[in-house]
Amino acid sequence: MEHQATMEKLIALAKRRGFIYQGSEIYGGLAGTYDYGPLGTALKNNIKNLWWKMFVDGRDDMYGMDAAVLMNGRVWETTGHVAGFADPLVECTKCKKRFRADQIPDRTKCPECGGALGSERQFNMMLSTRVGAMEDSSSVSYLRPETAQGMFVNFKNVVDSFHPKLPFGMGQVGKAFRNEITPRDFIFRLRELEQMEIEYFVRPEDWERAFEEWRVAMGEWLKAVGIDTSRVHEVDIAPEDLAHYSKRTIDFEFEYPFGQKELYGLAYRTDFDLGSHTKASSVDLSYIEEDGTRFMPHVIEPSFGVDRTVLAVMLSAYAEDELGGGGRTYLKFHPRVAPVKAAVFPLMKNKPELVAKAREVYQALKAEIPQVMWDDNGNVGKRYRRQDEIGTPFCITVDFDTLGENADLKDTITLRDRDTGEQRRVPVSELIEIIKKSIR
Ligand code: GAP
Repeated sequence: MEHQATMEKLIALAKRRGFIYQGSEIYGGLAGTYDYGPLGTALKNNIKNLWWKMFVDGRDDMYGMDAAVLMNGRVWETTGHVAGFADPLVECTKCKKRFRADQIPDRTKCPECGGALGSERQFNMMLSTRVGAMEDSSSVSYLRPETAQGMFVNFKNVVDSFHPKLPFGMGQVGKAFRNEITPRDFIFRLRELEQMEIEYFVRPEDWERAFEEWRVAMGEWLKAVGIDTSRVHEVDIAPEDLAHYSKRTIDFEFEYPFGQKELYGLAYRTDFDLGSHTKASSVDLSYIEEDGTRFMPHVIEPSFGVDRTVLAVMLSAYAEDELGGGGRTYLKFHPRVAPVKAAVFPLMKNKPELVAKAREVYQALKAEIPQVMWDDNGNVGKRYRRQDEIGTPFCITVDFDTLGENADLKDTITLRDRDTGEQRRVPVSELIEIIKKSIR
C-alpha cells in the first residue's frame, strides 16, 4: 500500500540522503534559506534543464536571458514594488513576535503566547543593499524580487538584435529575494528563492488565445516533470485579489501536506510593464509591425517557482510499500528528473574480477549518461533500498554470469526496476539505449 508523505518524513529524507539542508545549519540556520546538497542540486538542475529544453530551446518563438540580480533602483520604483510590494504585518505586544496578518486565525490574539496583537501595517518585502563605495541614497539597490523585470528592461535590446515577429517570448531562470515576514513550510516560502519565468509578448487583441495556450502548456509541464496532476487545481483569482499589474491570473495550486497552496501563476500583465518603463525611462519600448504600425505589446506571464517545483516533485514521488517481505520508502521520480539514473553494483566487492567487470560497465555508462552511481557497500538488498530512497530508476548488478560462468548469459547483467522490484537479464550492449529511452 502506498502512503503520502508527511512534511516530517520528507524533510528527514531530504536531509539524510543529501537533497536539502537547512541554510547555515552549523550556526543555527538562517530563516528562509535552504542549501541544496549533491542530490538536491542534481534534481534541481534536471528540473531547470527540462524547463529550458521545453520552453526555450524547444521552441522557435523564445529567447533565453540571464539578467543581473542587482538592478537600477528606479526599476522597482517604476513597477510599484518599492511603494507596494508588501504583506500585512502584526506584532504581538507581549512576546514581540511578528506574523503575517492574513495567515493567523485570530487577528487580535498572538498564536504563540496569546498576547494582544498590535495594529496591522504594511511590511515591504524588498531586500535592499548598497552598491559601490558611497553610503548615500544613490547607492541603494535591491535584490530582485522577481526575475521578470530583467526581461522587460531588455525587451528593446532583444528586438533590436533579433527582430522577432509577434508573438514571441523571453525566458529566464534565476534567483529572486523576498523578505518574507514568516518563511515557512520547508522550501515552500523562502527568502532566497529561484524562479523560471516567461514573458510572452502578444498583440493586445491576442491575449486571450495566448493565455489559453500557456494554461495548456503549463499542464503539459506538470506531467513532464512528474508532478501528480490529481493534486493540482487551477484557481481563477478574483478581480479584487489580483496583483496591481494583472487583469487575469490563474494560480496553479498544489495539495501540499500543509494545505492547498500556490505552486505556479499564470498572469495577463497587459502592457503595464513595458508602458511603465517607457514613461519612467523615456526609452520607447513599443513595437513596430512590418506595415509600420506602432503599439505597446501585451504580456502573458507563466511563472514557475523552482523550489516549489522541487517540493511538489518530491511529494508526488514519495511512496512507501512492502517489497520482498519488508517495508520500504522510495521516490518514484520520472527518470528525466531523477538525480541518479542508474546505479551499478558488483555482486560481491571482494571478487576482483567482478569488480573489474562492473567498473567497466559503470565507466561505459558514465561516459554517455553522467548521472550514474557506483555502489559496492553492504549487500545487494541494502543497496537496492538505498537507491530506492533516492529515486534511482534502474539498478544494474554484475554477477558471475556476466563473466561467463553460464555461457548463455555472458555479458548480460541484472536490471532491476525501482517501482516494481522486478529483475530481468539484459545484454550490457543494450543498457545505454534502455536508460536513454527512459529519460527522453
Ligand atoms: N513575476 C511574477 C511573480 O513573481 P509571484 O506569484 O509572486 O509572481 C511566482 O511568484 C512564483 O514564484 C510563485 O508561483 C511561486 O512558485 C514562486 N514563489 C513566490 N514567492 C516564493 C517564496 N517566498 N518562496 C518560494 N517560492 C516562491
